[in-house]
Amino acid sequence: AALALGHAVIPIVNKLQDIFAQLGGNSTIELPQVAVVGSQSSGKSSVLEALVGRDFLPRGSGICTRRPLVLQLVKTSRRPDGSGGEEYGEFLHLPKRRFFDFSEIRHEIQAETDREAGGNRGVSDKQIRLKIYSPNVLDITLVDLPGITKVPVGDQPSDIEARIRTMILSYIKFPSCLILAVTPANADLANSDALQIAGLADPDGYRTIGVITKLDIMDRGTDARKFLLGKVIPLRLGYVGVVNRSQEDINKNRSIKDALASEENFFRSTPAYNGLADRCGIPQLAKKLNQILVQHIKAALPALKSRISSDLVAVAKEHASYGEITESKAGQGALLLNILTKYSEAFCSMVEGKNEAMSTS
Ligand code: GDP
Ligand code: NA
Ligand code: MG
Repeated sequence: AALALGHAVIPIVNKLQDIFAQLGGNSTIELPQVAVVGSQSSGKSSVLEALVGRDFLPRGSGICTRRPLVLQLVKTSRRPDGSGGEEYGEFLHLPKRRFFDFSEIRHEIQAETDREAGGNRGVSDKQIRLKIYSPNVLDITLVDLPGITKVPVGDQPSDIEARIRTMILSYIKFPSCLILAVTPANADLANSDALQIAGLADPDGYRTIGVITKLDIMDRGTDARKFLLGKVIPLRLGYVGVVNRSQEDINKNRSIKDALASEENFFRSTPAYNGLADRCGIPQLAKKLNQILVQHIKAALPALKSRISSDLVAVAKEHASYGEITESKAGQGALLLNILTKYSEAFCSMVEGKNEAMSTS
């Protein structure tokens, strides 16, 4: 609720991304996204869920996230009469079906994961694409990724670690991707897989935010104060410490609202974190993300624009090459091209004309 990124560029960017996904092939585009990286069970899905403010992601000890989940949050507006405030999810692989029950969204993510990656802890790099419509969200695309794991289990191949690293890098390599590097405070912070892999993609740390989870279950007598202050591994954009729900909380269906209240209480009552209010808690992470994102989008726009133009040319060529092969395919291509052109024009005119509309506020 503390989030308000009120400009209109991101919905168009999201639309473009959908169109590119439908075009298939390797037409990737450097768009501002936020991806979570880290070791398995470091709390990546928990952090994303808390940012979204709804319960819908598979979480838990062991490997839960086994395919990349590309999650577009789409802000809808409430009408004056109060209607239009529904929150619901929609999957790209199940068009037109609206999920109003968020636990069903979780079930569908699990089912769709099994369909592609099997039921025995297998991992696939094929995306699941989900949109969540809500009047209470920030318009943003978040990517939940499988965690780095060292020892193959179940149906995982012997090179599982290398495969997951490659998958993660394929998302975070783009200069427009913000990286939430999630490190659990109850492991050796200085040996963070998350910071290591983020450092490969973003060596100068311009787009990596450090997130320290599990502050509540650190070894007695230890705390993460020095780490949060950047005194152990300095990070340009800094760190935010958080407390997510524990496995017991998950088992007991503890609500996010409850969890946020107890997180706040934790930071208020733990002397080690006195004076660090600006880097403690999910709401602070959301705030930081928001500020960084606006700056980031501004900086990424020129490159994005030329990329869209050249992709458009490529699509036009492809369309031309359909020739007389099949009419239906040509029709489909023409339709997509039309849609793409429309959104690209809208995007470009926004970039050229209305940069002021995107200032931070
Ligand atoms: P992921 O594998 O990185 O996506 O991690 P999950 O979000 O699935 O969380 C893994 C496990 O750690 C779950 O049992 C969570 O309840 C637990 N967990 C995550 N964050 C915290 C935290 O801040 N404190 C505690 N106590 N448990 C956490
Ligand atoms: Na997990
Ligand atoms: Mg996960």
